[in-house]
Amino acid sequence: MTKRFEIAYLLKEDVKALLNTNIIVKGWVRTKRGNKNVAFIAVNDGSIIHNIQVVADPAKFEEELRRITTGACIGVEGKLVESQGSGQAVEIQAEKIVVYGEADPDSYPLQKKGHSMEFLREIGHLRLRTNTFGAVMRMRHEMAYAIHTFFHERGFFYFHTPLITASDCEGAGEMFHVSTLDPENPPRDKEGKIDWEQDFFGKFTALTVSGQLEGELGATSLGKIYTFGPTFRAENSNTPRHLAEFWMIEPEMAFYDLDSLTQLEEEFIKYLVRWALDHCMDDLEFLNKMIDNSLIERLKSVVDTDFVRLPYTEGIKILEEAAAKGHKFEFPVSWGVDLASEHERYLVEHHFKKPVIMIDYPKEIKAFYMKQNDDGKTVQGTDVLFPQIGEIIGGSVREESYDKLLKRIEELNIPMKDMWWYLDTRRYGSCPHAGFGLGFERLMLFVTGMANIRDVIPFPRTPGNANF
Ligand code: 4AD
Ligand code: MG
Repeated sequence: MTKRFEIAYLLKEDVKALLNTNIIVKGWVRTKRGNKNVAFIAVNDGSIIHNIQVVADPAKFEEELRRITTGACIGVEGKLVESQGSGQAVEIQAEKIVVYGEADPDSYPLQKKGHSMEFLREIGHLRLRTNTFGAVMRMRHEMAYAIHTFFHERGFFYFHTPLITASDCEGAGEMFHVSTLDPENPPRDKEGKIDWEQDFFGKFTALTVSGQLEGELGATSLGKIYTFGPTFRAENSNTPRHLAEFWMIEPEMAFYDLDSLTQLEEEFIKYLVRWALDHCMDDLEFLNKMIDNSLIERLKSVVDTDFVRLPYTEGIKILEEAAAKGHKFEFPVSWGVDLASEHERYLVEHHFKKPVIMIDYPKEIKAFYMKQNDDGKTVQGTDVLFPQIGEIIGGSVREESYDKLLKRIEELNIPMKDMWWYLDTRRYGSCPHAGFGLGFERLMLFVTGMANIRDVIPFPRTPGNANF
């Protein structure tokens, strides 16, 4: 029986022993060219960015070659030989060709190269077959694998937090409801309000915006955990950096303080970027050529630089001075404002020219759970700010004092019925702890050089769009 090989194997491994033997490859046709004496078919099977070249005799395969056009799926059996042409080491001399699926050239949308990203989003079911999306999706896998490896090597446990929850971790009120009540005729209580007690879970529930609160239960029992799963935000942000459904990695560590937290944040990102450089060079070279020609240089520079630690108050001073010297910001800056992405990018791209970990934010602009500083004004929150991306990580040391946490929950009117179990971690064996969340697609933007977050996830969910 002739054996099938994946193209990545044939082009990457030492295949001397296979030369001049018969093998099978299967995949999708990228291009077909040639003349009456010889036909060349470039086949890609998704295992690697490169195609393998199939050489076929037009006289022998007249019928098959007529059916083979860009996008068709074929299987080829033939002899693996050293390539005559430049550009590839080996090629296949076809002896048998099977056409699994034709792709009608009059309607198949991916005929020529150079479609716009907007157009490709409209054909999200087919764009995965382009070189660009192949590269991005292979890198997505590599990054996910690197994330699990990083934490496993350091003794963290992968901890699964629920997607359906009753608590709004970030307190922004941007949750998607989960309900099986009849929307036309929901049950009502005595006051005429919807009676969530009669809903599936006996209470109001929604899709989670973060696994952190449950993650803290993991950290305060197992020591070090991380989550890696989908999160949902019903925020109406139509920007190149926001999704309504995105993946987040949330490590949570007992006995970490602000220093050890920011150290881990920096080590983690550098590890992932280094992994991309070590394991994804074929795809990176393609993206560097086609999408962003400073990509590889930028990735290398992040691996080699120390990230800045910048207290919010100092960051505001730098921005105020820039504004005073005439730098135009769309949104005004003063102590207390939540930084806009233009401010973050000014600090990272103009002022420091390297990643910045901003710390000690005003408590009013951060979530209730962050550890309060003695100044009574700031909390030990950390945002990691990156060139082009802005915020890539948000994290903090957690408030471990029961009294301070309760007071903050009351100040913010967070309903106690949702928080009793979280407060119990501070009532029984409370411990100093810290954690952060890395937006997986923000990381993917950085390591691929893609400009829009809709193009680094297979099937993006954004306001007004849940196709495919
Ligand atoms: O800063 P955020 O809101 O922090 C949290 O959710 C914390 N509970 C994390 C923690 O401490 N465990 O979100 C964390 C990260 C952001 O820095 C950003 O990278 C990403 O999640 N993110 C988004 N990515 C894509 N689309 C969105 N709408 C995002 N919102 C946040
Ligand atoms: Mg944030």
